[in-house]
Amino acid sequence: MAKAELHERPTPGPWVLASHNRGKLAEFRSLLGDVELKLASEFGLSPPAEPENTFVENALIKARFVARATGLPALADDSGLMVDALGGAPGVHSAVYAGEHQPDAAHIEKLLRATVHVAEGARGCQFVCVLVLVQRHDDPLPSIAQGIWRGELLRECRGTGGFGYDPIFFDPQTGMCAAEMDHDVKARLSHRGRALAALRTML
Ligand code: IMP
Repeated sequence: MAKAELHERPTPGPWVLASHNRGKLAEFRSLLGDVELKLASEFGLSPPAEPENTFVENALIKARFVARATGLPALADDSGLMVDALGGAPGVHSAVYAGEHQPDAAHIEKLLRATVHVAEGARGCQFVCVLVLVQRHDDPLPSIAQGIWRGELLRECRGTGGFGYDPIFFDPQTGMCAAEMDHDVKARLSHRGRALAALRTML
């Protein structure tokens, strides 16, 4: 491939989202209306391991894996919930906090138990998202952006929407829990929305 071609920035799709999470896909679609987005599972791909201790390294692994397997530009996010009183846990381990293949309710229950003695005023937390877009698996210049959404950890679940830790994440600005928000509202406020806005300014 010619050098100029290698450094061209991505065209508006199709991009493959290196995720199997339909909740994330819905959020990305509502934010990337003009970009055709496909899920890695549509290509029969299983999720790769996420062995690293930083969001950015894991996102890069996922993006490169999917770009290599599909031959298409790949967008990967690595995200999680960091709780101040737990030194940032569960963090990169959010998806497996209560064990692999456990339902969201099990992760939430474990987190609520771990924070039962954390007082009001000390229940700050943040959703974090790192996004990586690679043009090709060996793209030497991945586009990388991050978004952070500060909130407070509730003591019990609220709302019926969203996924993951949404039912226990309270957004003080709107006075709503993430699981009480419409897709579009959450997508605009969220760590993913913020990371995506930052990514778009780079493209
Ligand atoms: P991964 O990015 O696929 O490794 O998974 C991150 C995990 O963090 C998810 O499985 C959720 O448990 C949690 N998470 C990330 N973003 C959100 C969100 O917007 N709402 C609720 N939970 C989230």
